[in-house]
Amino acid sequence: MKSLRIGLGAAALAALLAGSLATLPSTAATANDQGLRAAARGTGVRIGTAVDATALTDDAPYRAAVGREFDVVTPENAMKWESVEPTQGHYDFTQADQLVAFARAHGQLVRGHTLVWHSQNPAWLTEAAFTPAQLKDILRKHIFDEMGHFRGKIWAWDVANEVFNEDGTLRDTIWLRALGPDYIADAFRWAHQADPGAILFLNDYNVEGVNAKSDAYYALIKKLQAQHVPVGGFGIQGHLALQYGLPGDIAANVRRFDALGVKTAFTEVDVRMQLPADPIKVAAQAEGFATMLRACLLVRHCVSYTVWEFTDKYSWVPGVFSGEGSATPFDENLQPKPAYQTIRETLMLAGRR
Ligand code: XIL
Repeated sequence: MKSLRIGLGAAALAALLAGSLATLPSTAATANDQGLRAAARGTGVRIGTAVDATALTDDAPYRAAVGREFDVVTPENAMKWESVEPTQGHYDFTQADQLVAFARAHGQLVRGHTLVWHSQNPAWLTEAAFTPAQLKDILRKHIFDEMGHFRGKIWAWDVANEVFNEDGTLRDTIWLRALGPDYIADAFRWAHQADPGAILFLNDYNVEGVNAKSDAYYALIKKLQAQHVPVGGFGIQGHLALQYGLPGDIAANVRRFDALGVKTAFTEVDVRMQLPADPIKVAAQAEGFATMLRACLLVRHCVSYTVWEFTDKYSWVPGVFSGEGSATPFDENLQPKPAYQTIRETLMLAGRR
């Protein structure tokens, strides 16, 4: 009852403020007061979204929602290696620069994504037969060139993405084959030199709960810390699917990484379902979003919670997982679903602590 009264008080205050602003030319302030970023204020957790570069320029309602709802943004594809260096030595940062400028204009931070990965690398890199020494030079140059371009403008970088298999062994990639397991430590050392201000993350999927893969990250981070490698964060992507269920130990898992002293973040949250959606699936989805958000809010060093697109209009899910979709908090018409309300209410509860 007590918190309910506080809630009504806050709502009344918001209404009063909105009223006093009614004579101002813009209604943006009113809208901003109701978005997720306003709800996240004071919680210590930034609320983010992946951003589709084309939609950001071509879709005005989408653009407005990115600015209104979020205080950190991740380029969904625009900073990946194949996007920034499609031809060796010829960089194209146009789309990524546009997002960085947008973020700056809207008081948002940027998560850089991603520097070392097995996927979405340019053909010139994957199809040529480089020697290990050449690959090491290429990787170092990539990290210095890309991070150098954005130096000082990126809050956190996903330095190494998806380096483990499900069983906790290192994934077989061009990097592991040519450079051996130390490529990860090298990448973090180079990244720290290239932009000392950025928080440097490992990032992966299927590491929401305690399992062989998240155990491998836990061990890796401890090892890197012992070697004074500047790993600063563990990114939990958070791509869940209702048909597989939600891991029961998400909060415990986040807590153990928090205890290592690294930052944590949910970096690519979506909760997909087998179509068609129905009210029970939609409610279960909201619970999935909330469970991950609560796990983040329960620990000291969880710094952000990012959804992997906020609208089904641009979600990657239908294109990749056959028969699945409806994975984001807004539908295709940019209308909020129950998941949106649940995220907002969870943030507001946290803001009252
Ligand atoms: C996805 C994008 O959403 C798609 O647009 C693209 O076609 C493929 O990549 N893990 C990651 C993200 O780290 O970069 C991926 O993004 C989703 C899985």
